[in-house]
Amino acid sequence: GEEDDLKLTHECKELLLSLPKERGWRTPYIYRFQGFWCQPKEIQAILSFRKHFQARNGDVVLATVPKSGTTWLKALVFAILNRNLYPLNSNSHPLLVSNPHDLVPFLEYKIYANNQIPDLSKFPEPGIFATHVPFAAVKESINKSSCKIVYICRNPFDTFISSWIFCSKIGAENFPSLSIEEAFNMYCNGTIGFGPFWEHMLGYWKESQERPEKVLFLKYEDLKGDITFHLNKLAKFLGCPFSMEEQKQGIVEEVAKLCSFENLKNLEVNKTGKAIMNFENRHLFRKGEIGDWVNYLSPSMVEQLKQVMEEKLGGSGLEF
Ligand code: A3P
Repeated sequence: GEEDDLKLTHECKELLLSLPKERGWRTPYIYRFQGFWCQPKEIQAILSFRKHFQARNGDVVLATVPKSGTTWLKALVFAILNRNLYPLNSNSHPLLVSNPHDLVPFLEYKIYANNQIPDLSKFPEPGIFATHVPFAAVKESINKSSCKIVYICRNPFDTFISSWIFCSKIGAENFPSLSIEEAFNMYCNGTIGFGPFWEHMLGYWKESQERPEKVLFLKYEDLKGDITFHLNKLAKFLGCPFSMEEQKQGIVEEVAKLCSFENLKNLEVNKTGKAIMNFENRHLFRKGEIGDWVNYLSPSMVEQLKQVMEEKLGGSGLEF
């Protein structure tokens, strides 16, 4: 069966037998594991990372719902934290020759994937890692150190469209894609990788309100709206604010430009390479716009998702 093909550990196979499952977006099944929906391979890697990963002081974890701006955030944080090591205007900057996912690895897709248990003490400091798991599943790995979390989310309408299109592009050839109506209903029911999306957002949102020095909560739309302001905020949060001198020299704008959608999309490495599993990097750069959902969703779908958002996020202070 599917589980055998994936070379899962005995522990993981046993666990899967006990979990509720639903049809997946690009795998036959996703399973409800500790309150969120995941693919078998992800569950195996998450079990391992929860057992072995302890962030060091100074490390940074980037957390996102898939398709919310992960690639962008990885590029920005990498560029900011390494700006002395790698000057932004250098024509050999790592972001010009590597995809952001190669520079900032996912805990569950890279570091702890395929039963690896790497020795992270040799990893360059500060370590920058990424994850899609909800806050409750990552907190034990980060709370014992001064590691900080940067979270980015995006309005659910665009995130849904981005997810649906991405899954239909990267899904296995012999695996039928979901129709937009099927995918939409699953999204609204919370049955999507790392969903329900509202629980994911609220977990990090609440933590950012209670411990603003530990968790920075960003929105894709806000970054698009005023990148300079938000890069200053981000650098300050990370403990390496842009000096007056750097601001005068236009360094903040250089970070924004280097990491911009247009710049990254057109690099050779992002047109032809593969950074995560077998996905082609080019699928990570689609439109990069706000509001593309108007081209796909019917009025009744819009109404349905609005209601879900009102019901689940209303009163939390988190708005889109
Ligand atoms: P669209 O599908 O709406 O174009 P993730 O990186 O979390 O997978 O999110 C992917 C979304 O972010 C895609 O949205 C993609 O085009 C957009 N994106 C990728 N790189 C970006 C960048 N540098 N700036 C802004 N948006 C970017």
